[in-house]
Amino acid sequence: KRLILVGPPGSGKGTQSPIIKDEYCLCHLATGDMLRAAVAAKTPLGVKAKEAMDKGELVSDDLVVGIIDEAMKKPSCQKGFILDGFPRTVVQAQKLDEMLEKKGTKVDKVLNFAIDDSILEERITGRWIHPSSGRSYHTKFAPPKVLGVDDVTGEPLIQRKDDTAEVLKSRLEAFHKQTEPVIDYYSKKGLVANLDAEKPPKEVTAEVQKVLS
Ligand code: AP5
Ligand code: ZN
Ligand code: ZN
Repeated sequence: KRLILVGPPGSGKGTQSPIIKDEYCLCHLATGDMLRAAVAAKTPLGVKAKEAMDKGELVSDDLVVGIIDEAMKKPSCQKGFILDGFPRTVVQAQKLDEMLEKKGTKVDKVLNFAIDDSILEERITGRWIHPSSGRSYHTKFAPPKVLGVDDVTGEPLIQRKDDTAEVLKSRLEAFHKQTEPVIDYYSKKGLVANLDAEKPPKEVTAEVQKVLS
């Protein structure tokens, strides 16, 4: 399947992605994870992206379209994929359509993680991530077995630099202004499935499975 996950910061896209990936054997491409890796490695891309990310603004369309274009060439992404955090602007959605058209394919489904803004601050400020895998935890909702340590590798967990209440405001503004139109774009094509992302993680997983089965 060729899937897009869309929703505000903290809505659960990164939490559900690995489960969907394991079950449907797809490739998982998260532009946020790829950009954070580039920033950490101080690559030219990372240097260009850092300022916008720290402020909670979107990185330029050209940069992220370039990343996705490159990543989609992976053999594992030929039969299907999950895009997490992309497209985030209507321009990005149009570019993706062009990219897929050239390969003779198209998007199958857009999962919309619908959730009220008021719930997101607690989710964001309590999040801890394992940077190299992108796995995320939450001090209250999904605590690791040992505080501050990744369950799988035993490596330390960190907090994202943009996971503050202050930066969240800008990220939410970017979502409402620039990304909500993407949901309308795919609604017109009849591709959007709405999920109640306020439910506990397992119930959201069940909703996802229902939509995809
Ligand atoms: P990105 O990394 O994509 O961040 P985001 O969209 O803000 O999304 P998050 O990762 O914050 O949320 P999530 O939905 O994955 O939540 P999670 O599952 O972890 O982007 C970061 C930045 O990169 C952007 O600001 C921008 O600058 C740049 N960028 C990236 N892509 C771009 C693009 N296409 N164009 C331009 N710029 C781009 O869950 C959050 C927390 O809640 C976790 O702790 C989790 O354990 C917990 N949780 C999850 N689900 C539940 C639940 N159901 N109940 C209770 N707790 C839950
Ligand atoms: Zn995420
Ligand atoms: Zn809105």
